[in-house]
Amino acid sequence: MRALLVDPSAPAGLRLGTAPDPEPAAHQALVRVTATSLNHGEVTLLVPGAEPGAVLGWDAAGYVERAAADGSGPAAGTPVVTVGEAGGWAELRAVDTALLGAVPEGADLGVISTVPVAGASALRALHRLGPLLGRRVLVTGATGGVGRYAVQLARQGGAYVVATTGDPDAHGELLRGLGAHEVLADPADAGPDVDGVVDLVGGRQLVAAYETLAAGGTLVSVGHAGGDDEHFAHGVLYGDLGRHDRSVVSFFLLGGGAPLGRDLAWLAGRVASGALDAGVAWRGPWTEAAEAAEALRGRRLHGKAVLDLA
Ligand SMILES: NC(=O)c1ccc[n+]([C@@H]2O[C@H](COP(=O)([O-])OP(=O)(O)OC[C@H]3O[C@@H](n4cnc5c(N)ncnc54)[C@H](OP(=O)(O)O)[C@@H]3O)[C@@H](O)[C@H]2O)c1
Repeated sequence: MRALLVDPSAPAGLRLGTAPDPEPAAHQALVRVTATSLNHGEVTLLVPGAEPGAVLGWDAAGYVERAAADGSGPAAGTPVVTVGEAGGWAELRAVDTALLGAVPEGADLGVISTVPVAGASALRALHRLGPLLGRRVLVTGATGGVGRYAVQLARQGGAYVVATTGDPDAHGELLRGLGAHEVLADPADAGPDVDGVVDLVGGRQLVAAYETLAAGGTLVSVGHAGGDDEHFAHGVLYGDLGRHDRSVVSFFLLGGGAPLGRDLAWLAGRVASGALDAGVAWRGPWTEAAEAAEALRGRRLHGKAVLDLA
């Protein structure tokens, strides 16, 4: 099969080549992939550290080529969206049926391929915050793949949504269009009564966002796009200022092995119906993967990059 291979000598460390077809285990479906989307973590962290020749890729959408031998999951021919720790950047993917969701017939699988990491991380991080109705929710790094889903889902869940971006003048209209009530440059201005934070930037933004939390508030540390350390000043974590029981929790979408199929199918249905905007900012053939990866890495691409396996 053809696949995007890690190659340190190629632009963005990726080149189109061939790899052996995957051999599905009994609980895995074999999926013919038609589209994949790139994620910040893949292009900034995984590609530079991976073995030459490796086939990476978390997100992939396509059609079931062969149903799982154990009878789980959908039948051959079903359009599906899938997630896994690797193997999405290839024509064929063997994927656990617990990590696969059925997609409405006729949906654009390129757009749907954005759902797994970006959409499901936003959804699961918001679940971790608890009830959203009438709550004040802050999303940092809101212009990115996860952030756009998080803003929309928080708004649809009934929250008052505050979004941050490095450039509110450039991105304010977009974020308000997705449902943000306020768009700010600095998370510190969102406080002091924020109930929940989905933090995608880390570093100083995480620390500033934590300080906006009300008593009982939760910050879910999903991302570290800024690449900076977090330093909490002495006293910030005291619980004696009337704002007790505030917490910071770490997050990993694929941690714990929780089945994601139901969430993937629900998100795919919302995207297919137009209730959620996937935020596709770049789309092209997978032969041009390097261009998209460089733009994402350089913070020039805000939103999702979709590769079609034409
Ligand atoms: N833990 C998990 O399971 C999990 C799952 C998904 C994603 N993540 C992580 O979550 C973060 C966001 O993912 P994503 O796919 O949404 O990434 P993305 O599309 O690249 O978006 C990140 C956003 O962060 C903002 N940002 C602020 N400072 C930045 C900096 N120094 N460099 C780059 N961006 C910066 C950018 O918005 P402005 O330019 O508008 O400020 C950008 O749109 C990443 O760190 C990713 O690895 C973790």
